[in-house]
Amino acid sequence: MKICIVGAGYVGLVSGSCFADLGNTVWCVDKDKQKIDMLNKGQIPIFEPGLKDLINKNYSSGRLKFTTNLNKAAKNSDIIFICVGTPTSSKGESANLQYVFKVAAELSQYINKFKIIVIKSTVPITTSDKIEKIILKKKRKKLFEVVSNPEFLREGEAIRDFRFPDRIVIGANSKKVIKKLKILYDPLIKKGAIFFPTSRRGAELIKYTSNAFLATKISYINEISNLCEKTGVNVEDVSLGVGLDKRIGGRFLRVGPAYGGSCFPKDTKALTVTGALYKTDLSIIRAVIKSNEKRRILLTERVKTILSNKIKNKKITFLGVTFKPNTDDMRESSSLLMIPYLKKRGAVVNYFDPSGKKKEFSKLKNVFFCDNIKTACDSADLVIIHTEWDEFKALDFKKLSTRKKFKIYDMRNLYSPQNMKKQGFSYHSLGRQN
Ligand SMILES: NC(=O)c1ccc[n+]([C@@H]2O[C@H](COP(=O)([O-])OP(=O)(O)OC[C@H]3O[C@@H](n4cnc5c(N)ncnc54)[C@H](O)[C@@H]3O)[C@@H](O)[C@H]2O)c1
Repeated sequence: MKICIVGAGYVGLVSGSCFADLGNTVWCVDKDKQKIDMLNKGQIPIFEPGLKDLINKNYSSGRLKFTTNLNKAAKNSDIIFICVGTPTSSKGESANLQYVFKVAAELSQYINKFKIIVIKSTVPITTSDKIEKIILKKKRKKLFEVVSNPEFLREGEAIRDFRFPDRIVIGANSKKVIKKLKILYDPLIKKGAIFFPTSRRGAELIKYTSNAFLATKISYINEISNLCEKTGVNVEDVSLGVGLDKRIGGRFLRVGPAYGGSCFPKDTKALTVTGALYKTDLSIIRAVIKSNEKRRILLTERVKTILSNKIKNKKITFLGVTFKPNTDDMRESSSLLMIPYLKKRGAVVNYFDPSGKKKEFSKLKNVFFCDNIKTACDSADLVIIHTEWDEFKALDFKKLSTRKKFKIYDMRNLYSPQNMKKQGFSYHSLGRQN
């Protein structure tokens, strides 16, 4: 099939290259010329395992193309996926839909023959109805169909998730269009993905309900871990013991910092806005948002306790700053609160992240990127394991720093408190007796 993907970000690039790999011809469009120029030179603007090879393979075969010209890409395609961002609005907590609506308005000028317009961006219930209205201002109903097809991929596992999704949710009002999208997704359905057609509004709400539920699981175990610390119970045992119940499941039930990333924080907030709009009190989700905000503060404050309230002139090392491993995405990462907080109180912060230097910290005085673990940790007073990249899972701490008596704050419970104690380290983790 001939496909146009609008928005060459995490979702657009992965979806575009995977659709091309399935044999389709794909135009990836972005308004960011620099990004498109990079892609046309074989450079990949984001870090996602396997993406570079997949893009280069399909680009070379001619099935994957990059352009800033939406008109040309849309005219040459039968199916148009909108994959632009829907961040939290600068005023309030609702989803900012200006990018999605702008694409819809542009597309309304370019539609020349029947197009399926698929909304892959995460959008609040009724957004697809609004997109339809925008296009109807310029084009007749016969010329297009708007469909909701929310994306469930996870950064860091995005290619695998795209190829082997649990389900493909299609919210559409037309049977003909559902049939066409089933053909597009057929290679994934044959490998076991469940094709789930539903109403357009239903598909929109399924996406928010899924993300809010996963955020709830994370916040729930994080709060239980606070109780574990007070009662001498090991939270890892609780996670396992609870997660083995098939009704609950062990995934997203691991203790850690506040949830971050480009989805859960903004989507939980946007869902409560929708609730308020329809006079429905989503009190559970509001509690989750509050609990997550408290967690950010709690874990940051704990650094003070570990350093006996003496932060000034202390050398603090962050191993990992992204919100999770295998991505370069910094959106809503806990480190964005923690590092400026510690710097403001006089600490000198070194950080190493396998995905590289971060522009978010480049203007902060006394915050330095190191290009390897050893340099980052050398002469540290405190090493904070912030993100569970594989690189941090089997460290020989004795060889890491010239300063013998440094402390370790493991926010991912990667090491055994007993072993660390045996080695003589002052080791602090979450929800366990340290
Ligand atoms: N990142 C994820 O893990 C993930 C997973 C599932 C769903 N989603 C949802 O998918 C959507 C996209 O997320 P993302 O993380 O890929 O965003 P992103 O910020 O990485 O990418 C969005 C891209 O859209 C481009 N863009 C904006 N306006 C445009 C326009 N008018 N024309 C062409 N390009 C335009 C931007 O330049 C940018 O490159 C969001 O709604 C998000 O909630 C994201």
